[in-house]
Amino acid sequence: MMSTSRGGTAAIVPAAGRGERLGPGAPKALRSIGGIPILVHAVRSLVSSGRIGLVVVAAPPNGVDGVRELLCEFGESVHVVPGGDTRQRSVALALDAIPETYEIILVHDAARALTPPSLVTAVIDAVATGSDAVIPVLPVADTIKAVDSSGTTVTATVDRSTLRAVQTPQGFRRSLLIKAHAAATAMDTTDDAGLVERLGLPVTVIPGHTEAFKVTTPFDLLLAEAVWSERDKAAEPHA
Ligand code: CTP
Ligand code: MG
Repeated sequence: MMSTSRGGTAAIVPAAGRGERLGPGAPKALRSIGGIPILVHAVRSLVSSGRIGLVVVAAPPNGVDGVRELLCEFGESVHVVPGGDTRQRSVALALDAIPETYEIILVHDAARALTPPSLVTAVIDAVATGSDAVIPVLPVADTIKAVDSSGTTVTATVDRSTLRAVQTPQGFRRSLLIKAHAAATAMDTTDDAGLVERLGLPVTVIPGHTEAFKVTTPFDLLLAEAVWSERDKAAEPHA
């Protein structure tokens, strides 16, 4: 008999980073937006898509128990494992914890706290309809220039029209993600699609969403607070 989760979707949330660029304080995933931890926001946006059977979070190795407690509202649908010393390693460790009944796997940065559930759904749909590796992207707004190794002189202006800024969730057929991680070297990639590209296999792009931005710097945290408070206002019942 088929398991109920066969063909279903699981999500990996790498959340083990320290958040050096955000500055001193708790690990980034545990910092708050509107009083709610970034990690809780991220897991809620996955779960509220209504399409995810299991979420595996890679937590800071010394904070696993605290993260479990933080996520207890989700019950059995969220598992927490200790992360690794790079994002790639954290994803690989979480991947090991996903039962093989799940055929689609998303990988979603905890730091993209305010990702709309509609983007989660769009990525899953793209994998379900035949693309084995799918990433959400946005056009690049700034003019991009290359500089020399000293970083002081321009060497070229890059053609912006063929560039895209990449977001998460990234979606994969399970067998492909496993193959890509098995072939990964110690050289860290900043996303999982990069590992698929190294296999020489195609990665499909779909439109991303501005609110799926990654909280990286203190400015991003300010922006997230503003986005969140606008959403809160919009959600209030009208008097
Ligand atoms: N991540 C992880 N394990 C690591 C490093 C990063 O799970 N060893 C996660 C982060 O928690 C984050 C995501 O990967 O959700 C994207 O990484 P990034 O934005 O770079 O977060 P940090 O590495 O925490 O930040 P920084 O690079 O500024 O230290
Ligand atoms: Mg990092």
